Amino acid sequence: MSRLLLIAASTLALTACGGGGEDAPAPQPQETAQAPAETTAPAQTASPAAVEADAPAVDTQAVLAALGPEFVDADFVNGGRQYRRCQSCHTLDEGGRHLVGPNLHGIIGEAAAMREGFTYSRQLTEAGLVWDVATLDAWLENPRTMVPGNRMSFVGLRDPEARRNVIAYMAVESAR
Ligand code: HEC
Repeated sequence: MSRLLLIAASTLALTACGGGGEDAPAPQPQETAQAPAETTAPAQTASPAAVEADAPAVDTQAVLAALGPEFVDADFVNGGRQYRRCQSCHTLDEGGRHLVGPNLHGIIGEAAAMREGFTYSRQLTEAGLVWDVATLDAWLENPRTMVPGNRMSFVGLRDPEARRNVIAYMAVESAR
């Protein structure tokens, strides 16, 4: 698409400075000016399809319902904004790298401290937790009080709504 725009831009530039005075034949520049406009149109309609191809369709309602009735109306788009506070330490895509914290793809429903290739604190390893919506909620509210001595230095999300939304976001992203 950018190549088409470049062609369009250079054609317009040629049209603009290539007139060569009043004697230049009038129809020719007009034709070249119209051609790029037509060729850009299909490229624009093609772009939404490209976006969809990047992000496979997820039945978000089913994902949220599976978390529990209290998640059906969770705002996972807002959760994505909350998640920005996590992303310096955690990737969420499938097979994503461990950063300061472990990759979190599909973490809901899993036992804690089990991700291969990440070295957890002894405290989290020995806590014997399974990440369901209740344990995750408590962890995100205040990781330090939930598992004293663990290594996640995050102050916590005070707002229950923010926690609900970020948990919804993690579930939806994990379904991709
Ligand atoms: C400053 C870095 C940092 C930030 C910010 C952070 N985390 Fe963590 N997180 C960690 C570390 C480090 C661990 C491992 C803790 C340990 O081993 O004691 C961890 C562990 C976790 C675990 C347990 C993973 C497992 O395999 O059991 C979850 C779930 C989690 N974080 C979610 C989040 C979410 C959601 C946010 C944002 C709201 C967040 N974290 C913000 C560093 C961070």
